[in-house]
This record gives sequence, C-alpha cells and structure tokens, in this order.
Amino acid sequence: MDFAGFRAVDGVDLSVARGGSLAVVGGSGCGKSTIARCLVRLIRPTAGSIELDGLDVATLPERALRPHRRKVQMIFQDPYGSLDPHLTAGRIVAEPLALRGVRGRAERERRAAALLDRVGLPAAAAQRRPSEFSGGQRQRIGIARALASDPELLVCDEATSALDVSVQAQVLDLLRELQRDTGLTFVVIAHNLGVVRQITEHIVVLDQGRVVESGRTAEVLAAPSHEVTRRLRAAALDPSTIRGRKPRAALAGAVPAPSGGSPR
Ligand SMILES: Nc1ncnc2c1ncn2[C@@H]1O[C@H](COP(=O)(O)OP(=O)(O)OP(=O)(O)O)[C@@H](O)[C@H]1O
Ligand SMILES: [Mg+2]
Repeated sequence: MDFAGFRAVDGVDLSVARGGSLAVVGGSGCGKSTIARCLVRLIRPTAGSIELDGLDVATLPERALRPHRRKVQMIFQDPYGSLDPHLTAGRIVAEPLALRGVRGRAERERRAAALLDRVGLPAAAAQRRPSEFSGGQRQRIGIARALASDPELLVCDEATSALDVSVQAQVLDLLRELQRDTGLTFVVIAHNLGVVRQITEHIVVLDQGRVVESGRTAEVLAAPSHEVTRRLRAAALDPSTIRGRKPRAALAGAVPAPSGGSPR
C-alpha cells in the first residue's frame, strides 16, 4: 500500500480460515491500520489481492463492492468518534438493517433492541445518543452495529485499547462470546499481546510494513523469535503499560474480574 510514494505495507501475506481468528500486531506505524482499511476497502491497495471466499475484492469497483461491505465489518479504536452523535443507539444499529433490506420500521426496531441486548446494553439504551454512554458502552454499540450487517469477518482495530483495563476485559469477554456463539471470523489488530492472546488462534507480527514472524498465537508468544515480538511481549509484561492488571495476568491470559455490576 503506497501513500503518495510512501510504502506503508509491503508484501504482507495474511490468511484466516472461516470462523478462525488472526491477530495482527506490531509497533506504532508498522502498517496495522493500513491493512485493516484495505480489508474493509476504506482504501484500495496499490498492488496485491484481497480474497474473500475466492473473490478478489481489492480491485472491485464501488458498485460491485456493496455485498462485500456488508460482509466485512470493522470495530474502530475510538469509541467517541466512530458513532454518529446525532442518532440514538437504536437508529445507529437499525441503519445497517435497513441497508440489508430488513422491511418495516417496527421490525428493525425489534431487531436493533435484540442486538443491543446481545451486546449487554439495557433496553433503554435504544433511546439514548452516543454522548450519554461510556467508552465501553459505545464500543458495545459499535459491535451491535457491526453485527446488524450480519457480517462474516469482523476487523477489530485496537477496539479495546482506549478503554480502562476492567472495561477492556468486559469488551474482550463479549468478543470471545461472539467467537464462541457465531461463525464469525476475526482479524484483531492490537499492540497489546495480552489482548490478542485471549482472543486469537494465529498471529502475524509486523515491522515496518512487513511480516517478521507468524504462527499459532500461544506458540509465538511462548517463544518469540523476532526482536519486535520480544519487545511487544516485554511491554505487555510491563506493569506501567497494563495499568491495574497484575503483570503476570497479561501473558497467562487471565481476565481480571469486572470491577462492578453493570458494564460501564
Ligand atoms: N493517509 C496517509 N498518508 C501518508 N502516510 C500514511 C497515511 N496513513 C498511514 N500512513 C503511514 O503509513 C504507516 C503505517 O500507518 P498505520 O496507520 O497503518 O500504522 P499502525 O500500525 O496502525 O500504527 P498505530 O499502532 O500507531 O495505529 C505509517 O508510517 C504512517 O505514517
Ligand atoms: Mg493503527
């Protein structure tokens, strides 16, 4: 992927099996979000292919892309900027239902309410606007919106990194439940190895736009062969980078108990 001559991602070869989960990790600026944006075709790679069920979507014209856009949904890092502030949560979740052709306002409202319930939000949430929710709750709305498209692939770009540790754990629990209960395929972008350890089977490690290491997440993290992976692992163990979490818990994959009753 080139940005006006600057090559942000080069020769990266990723694949994830249907229903599987892949982590894409690496330091800041290594090209993770560029890959995510290519996957959802927010941007178009300058070369290479993106195959979904055997169809190359990298070069598809906008009109032919419509079904792809539904199948591949993204959860963004910023829980504040990624939701339309003027719409209620119910409308935000109902919109993709309308795009999918779900007929009848009452039916869309019913389904939106079920999706908000699915992600752990109270029924009253449907009437409220994004500013009335906490960061973790907004991520839940974003997840409900993504699910409303009935996707096959969910791309999470640092979906929990803006959240407090305890809230992060709750959102991770939700993502894990979705992995368990749906056939969804996950691409999880993160710099926190404690996070990817909990929700991915496979991992690729990037450095300056190239893959430097890949394999099964548990094996790569147990015995990293590349310096970048070792650095990320050391950072995951550094108490200052995992506020409030016991240093060892990050690698053991343990999830701290939620700090209190309802999700914040
Ligand atoms: N629109 C753009 N124009 C020019 N350069 C860009 C653009 N978007 C990204 N880049 C550059 O491409 C490289 C990869 O950026 P990218 O956002 O993919 O990194 P990242 O791995 O997601 O980083 P972070 O962990 O900080 O989110 C960086 O060097 C960045 O400066
Ligand atoms: Mg990024």
